[in-house]
Amino acid sequence: MPSSALEVRGLVVRYGAIDAVRGVSFVVGTNESVALAGPNGGGKSSILNAIFGSLRTTGRSFGAITSGGTDILGLPSHRVARLGIALAPEGRMLAAGLSVRDNLLSGALALQGATDTRLAEVLAGFPVLAARLDRPAATLSGGEAQLLAIARGLMARPRLLLLDEPTLGLSPRARNEIAAALQAARAGGIALLLAEQSAQVAASLADRVLLMAGGRMRPDPLSPLQ
Ligand SMILES: Nc1ncnc2c1ncn2[C@@H]1O[C@H](COP(=O)(O)OP(=O)(O)OP(=O)(O)O)[C@@H](O)[C@H]1O
Ligand SMILES: [Mg+2]
Repeated sequence: MPSSALEVRGLVVRYGAIDAVRGVSFVVGTNESVALAGPNGGGKSSILNAIFGSLRTTGRSFGAITSGGTDILGLPSHRVARLGIALAPEGRMLAAGLSVRDNLLSGALALQGATDTRLAEVLAGFPVLAARLDRPAATLSGGEAQLLAIARGLMARPRLLLLDEPTLGLSPRARNEIAAALQAARAGGIALLLAEQSAQVAASLADRVLLMAGGRMRPDPLSPLQ
């Protein structure tokens, strides 16, 4: 069994002439939760999207990203998902008009095995969603919608779950519910990599916080003179 869920080496993300990520390296252990923290425009979402193969149109990634010994840099999302990585994206990206159930099932496209069994397993950890299965996702509160985005990610039985600002705009109570859901995922053996603007919130959600600004990690272990 590999000792890391993810290895990122010298990652550069470029949108046209803009370098959004300027050579970032880090490792996420198999049973670790790591946060990328830092202000607007720091490059956090670009890193998560580069890993998941979901950079928008002009985005290009360079460097090396491996998971479980497989090189995943530049692979499309459906192939990254099949290798055991899921993303709960910025803004949640739920299908608002579809039911909670159908949103969950859309997360199982990469799943090898019985979807119904997995749905029951995931719902056991999310009683709030189990009680709202037939409601359109649009009727959920912000906290419930974020729980759905996380649960949808878990449907594919990932080894690594990526989360882009999972507590953005939520009340302290809803934030605690998200933190509990993330702890439960960890307890189930899933590694986590999340993006979060506040270093303080990041520290409450993850074991280890990597500070980012201007597309670099601060302090950058490879550039001590910065
Ligand atoms: N599709 C795109 N086209 C051009 N530039 C982009 C694109 N997406 C992001 N950028 C630029 O890349 C830089 C990093 O953005 P990114 O969204 O990765 O940062 P972030 O740390 O996630 O910020 P936030 O905390 O606001 O979510 C910014 O300067 C942003 O304007
Ligand atoms: Mg972002």
